Amino acid sequence: MSHPRVDLIAGEARTAIAAARGASELEQARVRYLGRQGALTLLLRSLGTLAAGERPRVGAAANEAKRELEALLEARLAEARARERREARGRQRLDLTLPGRRPPRGSLHPLTLVRDRIVEIFAGLGFSVAEGQEIESDYNNFEALNIPRDHPARDMQDTFYFSEDTLLRTHTSPVQVRVMKAQPPPVRIIVPGRTYRRDVADATHSPVFHQVEGLAVDRNISMGDLKGTLALFAREMFGPGSSIRFRPSFFPFTEPSAEFDVGCFLCHGGGCRFCKQSGWLEIGGSGMVHPQVLKNVGYDPEEVTGWAFGMGIERIALLRYGIDDIRLLLENDLRFLGQFA
Ligand code: PHE
Repeated sequence: MSHPRVDLIAGEARTAIAAARGASELEQARVRYLGRQGALTLLLRSLGTLAAGERPRVGAAANEAKRELEALLEARLAEARARERREARGRQRLDLTLPGRRPPRGSLHPLTLVRDRIVEIFAGLGFSVAEGQEIESDYNNFEALNIPRDHPARDMQDTFYFSEDTLLRTHTSPVQVRVMKAQPPPVRIIVPGRTYRRDVADATHSPVFHQVEGLAVDRNISMGDLKGTLALFAREMFGPGSSIRFRPSFFPFTEPSAEFDVGCFLCHGGGCRFCKQSGWLEIGGSGMVHPQVLKNVGYDPEEVTGWAFGMGIERIALLRYGIDDIRLLLENDLRFLGQFA
């Protein structure tokens, strides 16, 4: 069954369907011929206007063409979809011959490396690790350490206070108090930890920093033991040729007190910018535990004596790795940290 008017439309539609590239062009062709305003649809809808004799022939031919075109569209659409899927799969196909991507490997932070090394050296001497807490009582941080209310170290500029009695510890020394209060002598502890002071951050200062405290209390502990221990520490930490020296100093919780320096391992005494041309690097403070501190924790200063020291981990990390700005240690820039892998 055919009719010239139908044949004309059907022929055009077949050509359009054959020429369509892809699903969306096929859809356009469908709309143009079979859609609500499509050519064939309009013809079918206008059957009523035709002469009664023509109607059945045109109607039958148009319906037949409609079925044929629908089937054709369906087939081509399935083909186009399958091709599009194939192409998409091809684009994202895995190339199994490519070398794998290595997961980036983390590394320990320089402060952690230095801390662990210090702890390791003292662990080897029989010291055990104690930690305390960063939020401290005024009593442990100051009072028990013989720092009275009017001592300059208690100035509001130096300390972050939560209240009159609670603060962020300004040094690791309050852990001396905690440990001695909790156990009878002898004591041999090494205390790594985070500490806080109200300092403005610059190349050498940070309001958050880290210290390591050491404390040894027993019968007959002397200043000589302190110096010998620190000398051994310096050799382990900074190399076999390292030496140390004491400079008289003052801390309210030690008597006598000394700051200790290590011979500059960068210039070996020749003078450089790290040692400010002096040949020595300041490492920390130390001294014999003040009898009053021993009394405060319930120890008998007639029975036992002790020494203590405290040093800054940042300071040692800066020296050891030749870093010139403490802020680099706190910024977590992976380009910087990756160099310590
Ligand atoms: N706590 C002192 C400081 O932070 C260091 C120190 C520790 C000094 C132990 C003597 C004994 O400066």
